[in-house]
This record gives sequence, C-alpha cells and structure tokens, in this order.
Amino acid sequence: MILVIGSVNVDLVSFAPRFPEFGETISGTDFSIYQGGKGANQAVAVARMGGNVGFFGAVGKDAFGDFLVKSLQNSRVDVMNIVKVKGGSGVASIWVDSNGENAIILNVGANAYLTAEVLEKSHDIFKDASYVLLQLETPMNGVVKAAQIAKNFGAKVVLDPAPARVLPNELIENIDYITPNGTELLTLIEEGDTLSKIKRLESHGPKVIVKAGAEGVYYAENDELKHLNAFKVKAVDTTGAGDCFNASFTVALSNGLNFVKSCEFAMAASAISVARKGAGSSFPTKKEVDNFLRRRGTFET
Ligand code: RIB
Repeated sequence: MILVIGSVNVDLVSFAPRFPEFGETISGTDFSIYQGGKGANQAVAVARMGGNVGFFGAVGKDAFGDFLVKSLQNSRVDVMNIVKVKGGSGVASIWVDSNGENAIILNVGANAYLTAEVLEKSHDIFKDASYVLLQLETPMNGVVKAAQIAKNFGAKVVLDPAPARVLPNELIENIDYITPNGTELLTLIEEGDTLSKIKRLESHGPKVIVKAGAEGVYYAENDELKHLNAFKVKAVDTTGAGDCFNASFTVALSNGLNFVKSCEFAMAASAISVARKGAGSSFPTKKEVDNFLRRRGTFET
C-alpha cells in the first residue's frame, strides 16, 4: 500500500492572461473550485494510476470539508482516515496565468491538525505501507514523526520538500527520495552548483531528484550530473504537477520500474496533467500515461 500523509485544500483558482500588479484589478478568463492540497493530490494521483492508496489528512467542519471528502471519494481515495476538526478547511487561493504558471496563497486551516502528537497516536495506519509520501503543508514536527514511524515499519519514504522550507536533519535522514524544485533546492542548500547541492543532500541519506519543470529532471550518478528531458506539451495549468510527479514516480517504483524509467513515467504523467486545468482533476490514469509514452516512442510500463 502507498500511504499518503498530508494536506487537503480547497483550491479557488482564477485564470487570467497575466498576474495583476500590486493594487491593480484585472479581468479573469475563468474561475473554478477544485479539490487540492499536496497530500490529497498525491493520493488522487496514486488512485488514478491504479495504486493501492491510503490517505491521512484533516478537513474542517465546514462546507469545504464536505466538498473535499466527497471529491476524494469520487476519485476513489479511501477517506476513512480523514479527520474532521473544528474550524475551517485548508484553502489555497491560486492565480494561473496564460503560460500555466501559478502563484498561491495557502491558508492551512485544518491541516495544522497533523502534529507529531497526532501522528504518534496513529501508528496503525502505517502497518501495511510499503511507501509513504510526505510533503510540507502540514506541521513540520508531524512530518518528522511520520518519516520516523514509516522507517520503523520498514517503508520507503518519498518527500516533496514543498512549499520550500529548511529541513531538520532528523527528517532528511529518514527519507529515501527527496524531490525539490529549483527554489526548494536553494532553500535546502544555498551554496554551490546543482551537482554539489545534490551531493550534499545525498550525504544525509536520500536520493535526490531535482524537478526542473519544462526542463525535466536532474539527478546525480557516479559524481556526474544527469539530465532527463521533459516531454514538450502546451501548459495550461501547472498546479499539482509536482504532486503528480511524486505519486506517479512512487507507483512506477512500486510496480518494479527502475529509477530512470520511474522518472520518465512520472514526467509523462506530469506532462499530461499540465495540459489540463486543475490539480487532482488533471491527473491521468496509468493507461493514459502508457499511451502517451507509446506515442512518444518510449518504453512500455
Ligand atoms: O501542489 C499544488 C497544491 O498546492 C494545490 O492543490 C494547492 O492546494 C496548494 O497547496
């Protein structure tokens, strides 16, 4: 089972030709309300890929909370371990421009519930997990605790260090794969080129995959910087592409693909998702990814 622990948000998404300047009002071209949140998005992506997924998260006792639970149920995510807590659900106000790039303000709301104390009492949910997916929209002490428990259960841990935050060593040393984008990598290690940053992070334990969006991904092998090209697509909304990558990468690994093929599979899934609007709602099925890779002349999964 792939266990996802993390945030679940309502995404209030405005599409516009460009971002407004300070103090400026511009006209949008579209508006939608989607289920989002890095944790929930990863759970949806695993489910779409046909993976056996568990999800642990929290929503508020509000209309958004009901909406989120229903959306996740519709996406075939098991909602048994979604806790409803007093107060509002997490809300992300998102702007998307005509290049598909976004800017996000996150109000964490109920996601603040996932503390170390709560995780400590939730050992049971880890017992069948072979992989645990984590991100950083919930309290850091809870993320640290989740990684420690996962390791004790012998699960592999995949961390998306997003949104960018400095990580305590006690977290990094319990991570198997870490997937920063450029900004996140700079937050983690300020000095040096990409290879030296990767090597410094890897000296603490995890394998590093740098997600460079339309450029593809970078990783290190035998002291060399390796690069895999992204698939070229017209992006309409990049929201959730990183979540889609981490989930698809993990599904591919758990299906027995090697590291490079798992990265390629994940890049294909993300490429499909950025060509559609929304986060969770834009994620492809495994069949769609397989067809995409076949059309692009790459391998079969
Ligand atoms: O990674 C994308 C997610 O980040 C969005 O769904 C939004 O909820 C923000 O938290």
